[in-house]
Amino acid sequence: DALDSFAPRLLDWFAENGRHDLPWQQHQTDTPNPYIVWLSEVMLQQTQVTTVLPYFARFMDTFPTVQDLAAADWDVVAEHWAGLGYYARARNLHKGAKQLAEIIDETGDFPQTLAGWEAISGVGPSTAGAIMAMGLHKYGVICDGNVKRVLTRWAAIDGDITKSATTKELWALAERLTPTENSGLFAQAMMDMGATLCTRSKPACLLCPLQEDCLAHAQGRETDYPVKAKK
Ligand code: ADE
Ligand code: SF4
Repeated sequence: DALDSFAPRLLDWFAENGRHDLPWQQHQTDTPNPYIVWLSEVMLQQTQVTTVLPYFARFMDTFPTVQDLAAADWDVVAEHWAGLGYYARARNLHKGAKQLAEIIDETGDFPQTLAGWEAISGVGPSTAGAIMAMGLHKYGVICDGNVKRVLTRWAAIDGDITKSATTKELWALAERLTPTENSGLFAQAMMDMGATLCTRSKPACLLCPLQEDCLAHAQGRETDYPVKAKK
């Protein structure tokens, strides 16, 4: 059915047409680096890929490991962040690096559980899921803004996405759709699809692997979703 064919169709599309050259992608390696995924995901939380690329490159140059970032002076971190916006993210990033370096000192490795990552400054449930899936190749589910846009359209979910009942519904659907194997590849494909096809305005439905059972598309109502109460 539509639920069971979602992941295979999305993964086929990603294999054929997705972006595979983003510098933080780890699905082509057997030994993923969670530092890279954590750093890039924090940068990508409110900023587009094309903007993030040069910042990410400079961060990796100056702070190749989480220990380098943890040991850096705040001023140097702030200089590297300048222009990315949302300064609180940079503060959390620096604090998070210190927390991670301490955990690695104590345990010998990065956190290995969802709860372990959610305890790091600046890491919410979706970023933690992304790190589990893409940075550790363990099971992880993402439900960020991109995913919410795709899923509210695909399933014509009319609830206000700022309401907790809708958030719960979207997380439950994201969990149902995420395959138990290769959830990292699935997460990468979802983000890519959301960012390149199922865009906020003028989604490219004709190229979309989910088009045939997308309920919003069937009604020509793609841009009515996601529903968000006016402030
Ligand atoms: N947005 C958030 N995370 C992303 C990723 N890993 N790739 C592309 N866009 C993203
Ligand atoms: Fe988004 Fe269009 Fe695909 Fe539906 S068919 S998921 S609206 S791109």
